[in-house]
Amino acid sequence: KLAVALEIHKDVIQKVPLFKDANDDFIRDIILHLQSYIVSPGDYIIRAGEIGLDMFFINRGSVEVVSADESVRYAVLSEGQFFGEMALVLQAPRTATVRSLEYCDLYRLDKGTFDNILIRYPDVASQIEMLAQQRKAEIDKK
Ligand code: CMP
Repeated sequence: KLAVALEIHKDVIQKVPLFKDANDDFIRDIILHLQSYIVSPGDYIIRAGEIGLDMFFINRGSVEVVSADESVRYAVLSEGQFFGEMALVLQAPRTATVRSLEYCDLYRLDKGTFDNILIRYPDVASQIEMLAQQRKAEIDKK
C-alpha cells in the first residue's frame, strides 16, 4: 500500500521542497493522508475569515492569495508551494482568500493529520511555522 502511494505521489514529493528535504519517515507518515484535489480556474479554495481545517500543496497550477474584499493581492503561489497552513499553525481564522488562476492539481492535508504528524517532526513543523509568521508579517504590513 505504501509503495503504491509513494509511486502515485512521486511527483508531489519531488516538487514540494518541504517534502523533498524531509526524511523518509516523514514522507511515509504523510503520504497516505494526502488527498488529491483538482480545481478549475476561478475556484475559491479558501475564504478569508473561515475556520481552517486543512492545508494544500500545489502539484500543478497556480493560485492567488487576496484580501477578504479581493482588493489586495498578497501573492501568487505555484508548483511546489503550499497554502492554508496559517490557520492551522496560528490557530486563527483564514487570513486571506485563495482562488485558483487556472486548473490546479492540489493535495489536501487535513488538520487532524497535520497535528498528529507535525508533533513528531519538529524540523518540518518549524519550517512551516516560520513561513506562516513571514506571511503574517507581509499581510500585516499591507
Ligand atoms: P490561511 O490563513 O490558513 O488561509 C489563507 C492562506 O493564504 C494562508 O493560510 C497562507 O497559506 C496564504 N497566505 C496568506 N498570506 C500570504 C502571503 N503574504 N504570501 C503568501 N501566502 C499567503
